Amino acid sequence: MAGVDLTNVGKVYPDGTRAVTDLTLGVADGEFLVLVGPSGCGKTTALRMVAGLEDISEGEVAIGGRVVNRVPARDRDVAMVFQSYALYPHLSVRDNIGFGLSLRKVPKAEIREKVDRAARILGLTEHLGRKPRHLSGGQRQRVAMGRAIVREPQAFLMDEPLSNLDAKLRVQMRAEIARIQRDLGVTTIYVTHDQTEAMTLGDRVAVMKKGELQQVAPPQELYDRPANLFVAGFIGSPAMNLLQGTLSGDAGHPLLEVGGQRLSLPAGTLTERPALASYLGRDVVVGVRPEDMEDAELVETSEGGALTSTAELVEAMGSDVLVHFAVEAAQVVTEDTRELARDAGTDVLGRLESPRTDLVARFNPRTRVKVGDPVTINVDTGRLHFFDIDTGASIWGSDGAGASRRDEE
Ligand SMILES: Nc1ncnc2c1ncn2[C@@H]1O[C@H](COP(=O)(O)OP(=O)(O)OP(=O)(O)O)[C@@H](O)[C@H]1O
Ligand SMILES: [Mg+2]
Repeated sequence: MAGVDLTNVGKVYPDGTRAVTDLTLGVADGEFLVLVGPSGCGKTTALRMVAGLEDISEGEVAIGGRVVNRVPARDRDVAMVFQSYALYPHLSVRDNIGFGLSLRKVPKAEIREKVDRAARILGLTEHLGRKPRHLSGGQRQRVAMGRAIVREPQAFLMDEPLSNLDAKLRVQMRAEIARIQRDLGVTTIYVTHDQTEAMTLGDRVAVMKKGELQQVAPPQELYDRPANLFVAGFIGSPAMNLLQGTLSGDAGHPLLEVGGQRLSLPAGTLTERPALASYLGRDVVVGVRPEDMEDAELVETSEGGALTSTAELVEAMGSDVLVHFAVEAAQVVTEDTRELARDAGTDVLGRLESPRTDLVARFNPRTRVKVGDPVTINVDTGRLHFFDIDTGASIWGSDGAGASRRDEE
């Protein structure tokens, strides 16, 4: 097994399309790294450059410390699992799994042993004699995984391997893949556009946008400390609410005004995020996760303050209730939010005549709020996120992770 290192990797297709820009990413030996981002952001291209299926225009790819730019795909010792797992319909599961080994003239007894072992790992033992058409979608995907496993590669490269399965099966196979990868300990790069899949599978998650790496971090860190607006809006469901606000007050008592309403921020806010001090008196982008808002009726003490609005839509999810409402704050329209809206298939309306931003709060199911009701929404202001309105960079401090680009200049 081996780590995989990409250093300043770029890709320009022959027609001039730039698909990947200056991608530097190290995947440790045995690590499960997920590459996530909207359609067209360059995930497949990056993976294919590692696999040797696509020329590397710029930079270097190393596998196990060996630069492989000029090493043909078959000699890179990696196994790729695709979304479409073309199985040979006339071959049994056993022969499908062992096919690559037969091609390479591996002795029959050895193939049998390796296929048996892979089948045990994958729960396919009793299906080895069957033809693919008698298998379920999930079983077929496992056969495709089996092919990769018997090769005992230095790394698995998976490109949306579950996207052809229905939602329930996908969740099941997701758990399987995680278990198999853990058991085998093979370095894995897994591509998906599904942020939930990314969060649940990855030891670390790398978020890409338009060919560029935005952030790479363990899932929880990505969620808690997104480096910029794009990562903030992309990771999490329902997405983080983003709205324009103005910081005021002083370092001891910072205040935030959004849509004519005022929230007070904890005194420690500026100690935790020193860079925020230079934003006092200025507009910022404020991010608030749905779960950091609660029906004020259910909150005993409120330190940060609350927003008032009208419940426009109430969705009971059982475990919680999603309450949609609007505030009179300007909608955040940046290149990042446009990209997020495009990915979500929604429209950014541009700057509206009267400012209005739609928000979603995740209330406790004990809430009695109904559609059309006036609602007071308590905001946990200690958990707000702040971003530079021009660069979209997260505002922290000059030392911490996610330092704003303004500070680095
Ligand atoms: N052979 C090619 N020639 C020219 N441009 C290409 C080629 N393959 C991909 N592209 C372009 O490169 C960019 C990145 O494509 P890529 O397939 O790597 O994205 P992706 O992140 O895998 O997207 P998806 O989630 O849709 O699979 C896109 O703009 C795409 O149109
Ligand atoms: Mg792709």
